[in-house]
Amino acid sequence: MRPSLCAGLLALTATFSALAAPPPQAATCVACHGSVGQGNPALGAPRLAGQQGDYLLTQLRDFQAGRRGYDPRDSHGAQMRAIASTLTEDDRQALARYFAGLDAPTTPLAAAGPGQALYQGTCAACHGPQGQGFAHLKTANLRLLDRAYLERQLQAFSEGSRGSEQHASELAIWMRGIALQLHDEQQRKALLDYIAAP
Ligand code: HEC
Ligand code: HEC
Repeated sequence: MRPSLCAGLLALTATFSALAAPPPQAATCVACHGSVGQGNPALGAPRLAGQQGDYLLTQLRDFQAGRRGYDPRDSHGAQMRAIASTLTEDDRQALARYFAGLDAPTTPLAAAGPGQALYQGTCAACHGPQGQGFAHLKTANLRLLDRAYLERQLQAFSEGSRGSEQHASELAIWMRGIALQLHDEQQRKALLDYIAAP
């Protein structure tokens, strides 16, 4: 093998291992989000592994800037806001890239059942027909999230402890508009059952 090609391959290998290695700040996340970002429902900390990278980055910026986790009712968000306030923009980018790059389970959504029509008619345009989220819309992959977390977020959006106009995250205000339309308790339950089905 020619030396230049050899050096090139070595450099490439180094790049790949650098991508896979957790950034040092990820050590802080383990306590709540789990050793590989798998989440810990008992603490209310959602899965980060395999989540949309643009979404994760937006959330870290929003927590830091007080666009999320600002409300006294939102004790989970407040915990995360305290952590986010210690991060620099470089940290946020490295962390978002790292967690987004980890493997995520991909189980298709059911083709039928209660909640299916509502999900496909109301949510799929922004979160994808499989709940996978879209990078260009900065939406989350909903299939990675546990039911209690999903329910708490819908509640937070509708009560304004996430997405309030005064705190001006335009994307969250958008999502709040949707959550406010979900007033039928039975519909909401069917929707959550559908999205959070294993
Ligand atoms: C003390 C526990 C704790 C630690 C440590 C922690 N988090 Fe969190 N994190 C939470 C909780 C709780 C939530 C859910 C907040 C809510 O319900 O709105 C959260 C939410 C998030 C979210 C939003 C996810 C989503 O789907 O919207 C991101 C992103 C995040 N954390 C990243 C991190 C990163 C990166 C670290 C390490 C630098 C970290 N967290 C450390 C508790 C923690
Ligand atoms: C018009 C586009 C749009 C539609 C339609 C929409 N969403 Fe969202 N959703 C968003 C955006 C954008 C965000 C990210 C908000 C933010 O940055 O805080 C979001 C965030 C969420 C979150 C928080 C995810 C997390 O990890 O914390 C949940 C849960 C959610 N949406 C559920 C739904 C459900 C259920 C529906 C259908 C009833 C729906 N969304 C319809 C745009 C949309």
